Amino acid sequence: MSNEPQGKGEVRIDDESHIVTVRKTIRDAAMRLGFGITDVTRIVTAASELARNIFHYAGTGIMRWRELADVSRIGIELTFEDHGPGIADVGQAMLEGYSTSGGFGMGLPGTKRLMDEMEINSQTGRGTTIVVRKWRRK
Ligand SMILES: Nc1ncnc2c1ncn2[C@@H]1O[C@H](COP(=O)(O)OP(=O)(O)OP(=O)(O)O)[C@@H](O)[C@H]1O
Ligand SMILES: [Mg+2]
Repeated sequence: MSNEPQGKGEVRIDDESHIVTVRKTIRDAAMRLGFGITDVTRIVTAASELARNIFHYAGTGIMRWRELADVSRIGIELTFEDHGPGIADVGQAMLEGYSTSGGFGMGLPGTKRLMDEMEINSQTGRGTTIVVRKWRRK
């Protein structure tokens, strides 16, 4: 038996309905990886916020997920990539209540709380890539 992680997939986001597809895809993946229901809900909520941001700010983009595994733990990694306007000040965007669209400004800070790791790479005029990970003990 191989120890190589097998699971991965992607969902294009170019219609509001694709946010539902992202939620369903990530729910199924996280459940298959053995996450408990509370963590599944956290991961799905984070995925939903990041997908919503892509649709809202960039219009189109892609979500990729893959299974992670090391000796002691299993994880899921989600990457959200768009070629939209980018985020001018990532530090500011991470603050609760900061929104350029009259929103609650809770999507990014909420996602950071719900996941174990979060990395944002964004360039004004180029786009945004956000990677988040969640781990569970084997
Ligand atoms: N993919 C993206 N491309 C460009 N800007 C983004 C992207 N994602 C987030 N932002 C910027 O970061 C800000 C904060 O995002 P966040 O999701 O935290 O709040 P929000 O979308 O404004 O409100 P909500 O609480 O409804 O999510 C946004 O207002 C927007 O300016
Ligand atoms: Mg948002």
